[in-house]
Amino acid sequence: MLLTELIKEGRRTVSEAYPEAEAREMVSVFLEELLGVRKHTHILYPDYAVSVESVLGARQAFARMAAGEPLQYVMGKAYFYGREFRVTPDVLIPRPETELLCRMVSRHLADAGNSGEPLRVLDLCTGSGCIAWTLALECPGAEVLAADISSGALSVASSQSFDEEMAVSGALPPVFFKADVLAGPQKDLGQFDVIVSNPPYVMDKEKPLMRNNVLLHEPHLALFVPDDDPLLFYRAVASWAGTVLKAGGLGVVEINEALGPETAALMRNAGFAGVSVEKDLGGRDRFVRFVQVL
Ligand SMILES: C[S@@+](CC[C@H](N)C(=O)[O-])C[C@H]1O[C@@H](n2cnc3c(N)ncnc32)[C@H](O)[C@@H]1O
Repeated sequence: MLLTELIKEGRRTVSEAYPEAEAREMVSVFLEELLGVRKHTHILYPDYAVSVESVLGARQAFARMAAGEPLQYVMGKAYFYGREFRVTPDVLIPRPETELLCRMVSRHLADAGNSGEPLRVLDLCTGSGCIAWTLALECPGAEVLAADISSGALSVASSQSFDEEMAVSGALPPVFFKADVLAGPQKDLGQFDVIVSNPPYVMDKEKPLMRNNVLLHEPHLALFVPDDDPLLFYRAVASWAGTVLKAGGLGVVEINEALGPETAALMRNAGFAGVSVEKDLGGRDRFVRFVQVL
């Protein structure tokens, strides 16, 4: 089959679930990955033919996209902070705003990193491990521990592969462990310089505002919190931080944009200093920073 025909078929199929322009982009990105072609290959080489095996693989993928499955799950990968992460339906697809959290924390670690002791970072609710791996790779020598309640997520997080980059930079792989963050801090982990978390924070009542490809395909365990207690994970993070964060240590959490002042108040009431709400690139309240008192 000619590439140009396969592209037309893909656009037709995928546009059953997505607006035309988005469907075109998804088909293009997918075929670039599958076939190693460029966006304009079919125009430059109108006779470019695709093997039967690749056509069958592409058709299956188009059908999954038409059923609303996010492109990242179909491809099995997502890009975060310039790196490729493995993703499956067991993990939330890493979001661009979470990259800002990593940038904030990497800068802090770079400024803090001269004492000779390895810096220690704890990531609660790690999912794909995108935050844990990014901090480990951006701050070589840092010791990163990361927890999640989901065995499926932990298996994805520990299967990420950055061996080449680690060999060059001397970065250490994060240590992933199973924990229910809501059950309270684990005692045997030692003290940390930084605690980070992007926990579930979408209120049940916000479900109708979400697109079906998120609602029907991403894990609800990763997304939703009850309307009558939307800050439960932040209380838990505050409790972990109260126990394991060193004096002067930094905490950064990603938050529901509707709950910036409330999340900041929770951290102040828990006794932390330097509490501030930080915005994402869209100007929405997206992170709360806090510091363990000296
Ligand atoms: C919003 S996702 C964040 C994933 C990842 N940190 C990121 O930024 O893409 C929240 C994660 O919290 C995990 N989770 C949900 N309830 C939990 C609990 N009680 N204890 C630990 N992890 C939990 C989910 O499995 C999910 O991986």
